[in-house]
Parts: sequence; structure tokens; C-alpha cells
Amino acid sequence: MAKALRPSLLLLASISLLLLSCHFRHCCASEDPKISSSDAAAVQVEEDELDEFEDDDSTDELHQHGKQDHEAEEEAEEEEDDDDVDSDQGWGNNEGDGVAIDDKEVVVLTGKNFSEVLLANHFVMVEFYAPWCGHCQALAPEYARASVDLKGEVLLAKVDATLEHQLAQHYEGAEAEEFTSAARQDDHVLFYQTNDLKVAQLLPFKKELIAPALVLLKKQSERVSHFDGKFERSAIAEFVFKNKLPLVIFFNRENASLIFESSIKKQVLLFASPDEATSIYPLFEEASKSFKGKVIFVYVDTNDTDLAFPVLQFFGISGEKPTIMGFTAVENGNKYLLEGDLSVDSIKKFGEGSLSDTLKPFLKSDPIPKKNDGDVKIVVGNNFEDIVLDESKDVLLEIYAPWCGHCQALEPIYNKLGKRLRGIESLVIAKMDGTSNEHTRAKADGFPTLLFYPAGKKSFDPITADVDRTAKALYQFIKKHASIPFTLPKGNESGKANVDDVSTQKLDIEKVSEEAPKDEL
Ligand SMILES: *[C@@H]1O[C@H](CO)[C@@H](O)[C@H](O)[C@H]1NC(C)=O
Ligand SMILES: *[C@@H]1O[C@H](CO)[C@@H](O)[C@H](O)[C@H]1NC(C)=O
Ligand SMILES: *[C@@H]1O[C@H](CO)[C@@H](O)[C@H](O)[C@H]1NC(C)=O
Ligand SMILES: *[C@@H]1O[C@H](CO)[C@@H](O)[C@H](O)[C@H]1NC(C)=O
Repeated sequence: MAKALRPSLLLLASISLLLLSCHFRHCCASEDPKISSSDAAAVQVEEDELDEFEDDDSTDELHQHGKQDHEAEEEAEEEEDDDDVDSDQGWGNNEGDGVAIDDKEVVVLTGKNFSEVLLANHFVMVEFYAPWCGHCQALAPEYARASVDLKGEVLLAKVDATLEHQLAQHYEGAEAEEFTSAARQDDHVLFYQTNDLKVAQLLPFKKELIAPALVLLKKQSERVSHFDGKFERSAIAEFVFKNKLPLVIFFNRENASLIFESSIKKQVLLFASPDEATSIYPLFEEASKSFKGKVIFVYVDTNDTDLAFPVLQFFGISGEKPTIMGFTAVENGNKYLLEGDLSVDSIKKFGEGSLSDTLKPFLKSDPIPKKNDGDVKIVVGNNFEDIVLDESKDVLLEIYAPWCGHCQALEPIYNKLGKRLRGIESLVIAKMDGTSNEHTRAKADGFPTLLFYPAGKKSFDPITADVDRTAKALYQFIKKHASIPFTLPKGNESGKANVDDVSTQKLDIEKVSEEAPKDEL
């Protein structure tokens, strides 16, 4: 119980931080344009507060709190809308009038005793309010109740911002406003504000600390990042964006959203077993420092086969030795392979190449077959250019999967077609196993996919052969789209007889429906 107490206090403090500032912001904006913003500051001064960043549990909770803050804020906004309706309807002003609020547990603070009280208490929540502010009045009974509930745990205090100008300014200055505004943009990071030197002293500031200063703390390596930009919302938000992610994300289910939901689309991945990682990981992490906020660095433990296998398969690598791959996480994004030595320099160069889109895409590929003189040519990732994109040939390519039933049904027909068209120099009938080979110019929308690449037009998208899967229909399709006209070679009997042979063999049995069926990818 005692252990759970501290994080729950943090939760309360952070929710309230936003709630209060929200209430106050609205009423001030409508009623006193001179005071543009306010804040409640939740301040905690004990050293072990920072130690909690070490603690896994507390960090996980912190993460959630960020989200709850937003929900709380939204609720607060809704409440306020309700309030507005009430007063607009003019049903008299019931708010606060005549209702005695027992807020004797809420401590009144002024500029004179503010710091003293903050120092003397573990947690202090301060509400800056204006007496004329309707939303502050509405909050008062809640605040009073909370002060009783939290007695002994959190001290709830209030400062009349209309009287304590200097104090209020300190917390509501332009910088605090920029900070608060940046905080609203990010629901994964908790934002705290303090004017307590003791807190600052716990942080490794290199030079003398000059306020306002901003640091970002995280439990992963690096731990502390110092902000040295201009105190403006955009600069603060950018700083947070760049520094909030760990240098390297450890890939697992729990962390997957950090990778896949990020707005950063460039990724560099290290595949290695824990043993291999002992020497490579430090290099990987060091290199990642140059790419904060630009490239996500991910470590995949290849010993964890359940987790690693689909990733290895996606990238088309074995994972037998430490491998670094790049990926652009967009539709049909390219993969890249870091070839050669793995060093800080080579990884950095690889990352830069990924950013400038100057890397050569890596294609999944089976080995290029040594012998490839059948009627149906074998295409793999690495001979795709040579065979399919040869401008001097009309090429029909079937992309199949070994396990796909429709592909198996097509095979004898396809072989027959290849055999019959054998000897036509300008024409290639080819197939590619789409599960272990790929090329950016070959998009399969299921298996089998039949694509036709006419000679001389290889820079255009291929034509999809959406015809019956019969030798006749395919033959007619080729005849229609081939750039280079051809005639069927004479068979042993007569050429004519052979075409008829091909077309009359009742291969239409394979035809299942008007739309040629496909297996899912
Ligand atoms: C702080 O000072 C004000 C004004 O003198 C006083 O009313 C208030 O009770 C003081 N608060 C504390 C906690 O001493
Ligand atoms: C990912 O998960 C591991 C193990 O569950 C954890 O130790 C690590 O801190 C998590 N976060 C990141 C960003 O890697
Ligand atoms: C990883 O797998 C290899 C080979 O199976 C094994 O020798 C090694 O001990 C494993 N390492 C860990 C940390 O599990
Ligand atoms: C023609 O017949 C011969 C022998 O009967 C055979 O070896 C050859 O493969 C046939 N050619 C074609 C194109 O079918």
C-alpha cells in the first residue's frame, strides 16, 4: 500500500495540474484579458522523486498518466461548456452564492510565505485564482473537498493571482505559457514545473543554472537531456519529440506501438542474438545519437524466435549473423541492407543514406538459378531486372505462392502455355515465388497474380492479366498486348492444330468464377 502511494499522488498532481489550468484559462480569457493564463503548480521536492525514474513500474504509470491528463482535460472542457449554457440561459446566478464552503484545509499563500511552505511540504498543489472568476468559484468546493481527502498527503494551497501579481507572473509568465502549451501537444510525456532549487540541484547541470531551464528525464540510457533552445512552444515541442524516445527501442509486443505509431517513418534495425549484441549494440546505440527524432533505431533479439521470425521473414534475411537493415515505413516502403563492416561510422553513413533516400533498395531474393532454360523462366528478386525489365522482350510473369491452391491449379496450364510459345525470341513466360522474392515493379494483390510487361514500355506499370485462367485466354491476352508481333511456331503437325489443341482442351475446368480467384497474400 505504502509503495503504491507515491505514484498515485503523482497521478493526482498531474491530472489536477491540467484541470486547474484549464478552468482558469477559460475564465480569464473571457473576463480579464490582461491575465492571459494561469497554472497550478504541483511541486515536489524530495530527492527520491527523481529516483523513481529508475523504477520500471513507476515509469509505466507515468506514461499512462499522460493519457489520463488529456481525458481529464477534455472532461473539464465539457464541464465548462455546460457551465456556459447555464449562465447563458440566465436562470439567475446560483453559483457559489450563499453556499458556505468549508475550505479551512486549503492554505492561503502569499509571496512572503510561498517558498517556505513549498519547502516544508512533500507535495503542494497551488491554485492560482481570481475571486471574480466563475470557474474558480465552481472549483472551490471540489478543491476544498480534495484538501480534506488529501490531508496529510498533499497540501492544497491557493494564491489570489489578482493580489499576488509577482508570484502569479512567476508561474504564468510567457515561458510558462509556452511550456504549458507544448505540454498539451504531447500525451506521452509528463510535464512538471517547479521553482525549487533543490530539484534543480539533483540534475547534472553543467554550467550554472539559469532559469528558465528545461530538462527531459527518461529511464533509458541518456537519462537527462538539456533544452538549450528558445523558450517557445514549437522549440519545446520539437525538443520533447526528439528526445522522448529511447535511443534504441527494444522490439517486443509491448513496445511495438512506439515503432509503428510513430510519425518517424525511417527505421534502422539491428538483428542479433543477445550474445552477439554485447559487442554490436554499443556501436548501434552510439550511432543512433545522431538521428534523434529523425530515424527510429530498433533492436530485434534473434534468439526470441516467436518474435523475430516474422520480422526476419519480412526482411528476407536469415538472422544467422548480426545484420543491420533499414526500412521506410510507408506503403510499399523499401528495405535496405547495411553491407560490409558494422561500425559506428558505417551505421551512421547508413542512417544518413536512409534519410537522403540514396541507399540501394534491398530485395528479398532466392538465389539466382544456375540453369534457367525451361519453357517457364524462373524469376527471383535479383534477376528480375535482367529478365522482366528487359526492354527487348514481352514478358508475362506469374507471381505465386507455393502453398496456394489456385496457383497449383494454374501450373499445368501455365506450363502448357510456355511450351507452346517456346521458340518465340521476343516473348518470355516467367514465374516468381512471391513469398521469398520481391521487386518494387512487381506488386501482387494476391496469389496468383499475372502481370504483363510489354517490350519497350518497361517504365510503365505492367498490365494485369485479368482474364480466365485458360491457355487460350492467356494466349489471346498476350497476342493483344505484345509490343512485338509474333506468330506461333509450327508444331510437329500443324501450328493451327496446336493452337486449337491448346484452346480446346477444356482447361476451362479451372475457371471457378468470372473473377479469377486468388488466395490471400
Ligand atoms: C501566508 O501569509 C498570509 C498573509 O499573511 C496568511 O494569511 C496565511 O495564513 C499564510 N499562510 C501560511 C501557510 O502561513
Ligand atoms: C521495451 O520492453 C522491454 C522489456 O519488456 C523493456 O525493458 C523496455 O524498457 C521497453 N521499452 C523500450 C523503449 O525499449
Ligand atoms: C541464443 O541462442 C544461441 C544459439 O541457439 C545460444 O547459444 C545462446 O546461448 C542464446 N543466448 C541467450 C542469451 O539466450
Ligand atoms: C516434335 O516431335 C519430336 C519427336 O516426335 C519431339 O521430340 C519434339 O519435341 C516435338 N516438337 C514440338 C515443338 O513439340
